[in-house]
Amino acid sequence: MATTPTALITGCSSGFGLETARYFLDKGWRVVATMRTPDESLLPRSERLRLLPLDVTDAESIRRCIDAAGPIDALVNNAGVGMLAPLEGVELTEVRKVFETNTLGTIAMTQAVLPQFRQRRAGVVVNVTSSVTLKSLPLLAVYTGSKAAVNAFTESLALELAPFGIRVRVVLPGRAPSTRFGENAHLLTGDSLPEAYAQFTQRVFEAVRSTSTPITQAQDVAEAVWRAVTDPLAPMRIPAGADAVALSEA
Ligand SMILES: NC(=O)c1ccc[n+]([C@@H]2O[C@H](COP(=O)([O-])OP(=O)(O)OC[C@H]3O[C@@H](n4cnc5c(N)ncnc54)[C@H](OP(=O)(O)O)[C@@H]3O)[C@@H](O)[C@H]2O)c1
Repeated sequence: MATTPTALITGCSSGFGLETARYFLDKGWRVVATMRTPDESLLPRSERLRLLPLDVTDAESIRRCIDAAGPIDALVNNAGVGMLAPLEGVELTEVRKVFETNTLGTIAMTQAVLPQFRQRRAGVVVNVTSSVTLKSLPLLAVYTGSKAAVNAFTESLALELAPFGIRVRVVLPGRAPSTRFGENAHLLTGDSLPEAYAQFTQRVFEAVRSTSTPITQAQDVAEAVWRAVTDPLAPMRIPAGADAVALSEA
């Protein structure tokens, strides 16, 4: 790694990405914090911080971002969207959006950094997935599929990149009601919700918003990403948050 290493993090406008950007800055790293709509007021001013626009579903946006970022040592694929809905009521165009962001966005970003990582025979990619891939929950079939695909993708990729000195890891956060994830998730309500699923969906929505069971804080995710990036002995799958850790040990 260079003297002052650089992390490029996707989805830094809120939640886990924003906290991870702060964490790496506090630890003395250079951070390229990427957002669909960059907002300088979100992070502390620092000569080690750069804000760049990035939409992970847009190939041209990825190319411009990677060109502008220059050499990086770690890529954190954090950007993601949720979907909490009975499959029967969901439009396939919405399903595609979830996979475009969570799965293909992660794959495209990874492809974009590999040439420089391979040439330098160094670099780490951390993919943020979810503890729902450890224990399935209802109404999350599409979201879980999009994240489980990233787990499997990462584990296979790690094998082909190890000979080049490149590490790839997954961080699996638990449920974090404090981020904007719930607000940003695709939910079915009102007329678009199939009547047969209405009561069941209502019960699941209430359970998801509850804070009476262990939950995950953004800081837990920042710490897990830090471990994935800086500890060469970190395991392939790193749970983040009390609920995710408990699930990984069950
Ligand atoms: N919160 C949870 O309960 C939870 C649990 C497990 C895993 N996760 C995962 O953790 C990650 C972060 O979630 P969070 O809880 O921090 O949610 P969040 O507050 O909604 O943050 C998601 C971030 O992703 C960005 N994003 C969405 N679509 C994008 C795109 N096409 N290109 C670039 N950025 C995009 C959002 O940016 P905009 O502001 O532009 O929309 C936002 O910065 C996600 O991958 C999520 O699936 C969340």
